[in-house]
Amino acid sequence: MPRVGILGATGAVGGVLRELLRDWDDVRYFSSARSAGSELDGRLVEEATPEALEAGGLDLCFSAIGASASLELVPHVVRGGGVAIDKSSAWRMKPDVPLVVPEVNGDQALAHNGVIAVPNCSTIQLLVALKPLHDAAGLRSTRVATYQSVSGAGKQSMERLRAESVEEHDLRGDWTLEGEEFEEEAKIREETRKILELPQLPVSATCVRVPVPVGHAEPVWIETEEPLSPDQARELLAAAPSVRIEDFPTPGKAAGGDEALVGRIRRDPSAENGLALMVAGDNLRKGAALNAVQIAQLLVERSALAA
Ligand SMILES: NC(=O)c1ccc[n+]([C@@H]2O[C@H](COP(=O)([O-])OP(=O)(O)OC[C@H]3O[C@@H](n4cnc5c(N)ncnc54)[C@H](OP(=O)(O)O)[C@@H]3O)[C@@H](O)[C@H]2O)c1
Repeated sequence: MPRVGILGATGAVGGVLRELLRDWDDVRYFSSARSAGSELDGRLVEEATPEALEAGGLDLCFSAIGASASLELVPHVVRGGGVAIDKSSAWRMKPDVPLVVPEVNGDQALAHNGVIAVPNCSTIQLLVALKPLHDAAGLRSTRVATYQSVSGAGKQSMERLRAESVEEHDLRGDWTLEGEEFEEEAKIREETRKILELPQLPVSATCVRVPVPVGHAEPVWIETEEPLSPDQARELLAAAPSVRIEDFPTPGKAAGGDEALVGRIRRDPSAENGLALMVAGDNLRKGAALNAVQIAQLLVERSALAA
């Protein structure tokens, strides 16, 4: 078993990582100075300093911290000889960093230079649903709306939602505008293009935060190059990894589970070869921690770690 670190072990994604890695032998927890010194699961939480990470002897480090802290700290993991699997947006679009959903482009993980990026939570659940349809009929365009839960904005937002009324809760707080669109909307487009290796794919996203604790819901509209009936799409999706067919996918049904729920598969009469579907997934699990652990398992299975 590799020697493992979790950066951001006290956070929302870090909490799920701790749960998923509970049977791994050698796991150390790191946080900022705020939580360092506390205990979780009977283990000391250490401060994530450059020195601690570089001299830590980690083979593998899951990074579940914000983008600017990741840009500062992850290079020290790599310098110390470890592979970092990073959940933030810091590394995703760098040309020499693989951006990986194991069911979609798992082989890319092996081509890393020390850092492997995990896509945005909304992108992951979208792509496990789109990949089998793309393989069968070729994607021509994708439009998606996201209804994203509050846990997607971290543990403090979850605590605020518990303490405030739905009317009081600021649902726009954490997304920045880049020109006319939210950064989140651009991420879905650019990450989808990179992962599917379709740099020109037309992708349009509209992202909305909703007062739901866990689980993102996404109505999706696609056009394909070849015709694909709703029945054919349903059959392909029923056989696809990390997908479960569900008549009416909702965040509540998806929360706590490992699969993207896909349903409401129907013809979209507004487009040639158009299909409409609904996807729901747990943003903290497949959308973040589980996808990262699956990348680690892939590296271990392919003997691609130094340990
Ligand atoms: N939540 C989701 O559904 C989701 C999905 C996909 C991607 N992500 C991404 O995953 C990352 C973590 O998100 P989250 O929702 O888990 O956030 P969170 O709940 O706010 O947790 C942040 C974690 O980062 C630690 N931290 C903050 N600043 C640090 C620093 N300078 N050095 C070391 N550790 C530091 C915090 O430690 P303290 O306890 O000491 O503050 C805490 O453990 C973010 O990049 C986020 O964009 C989140």
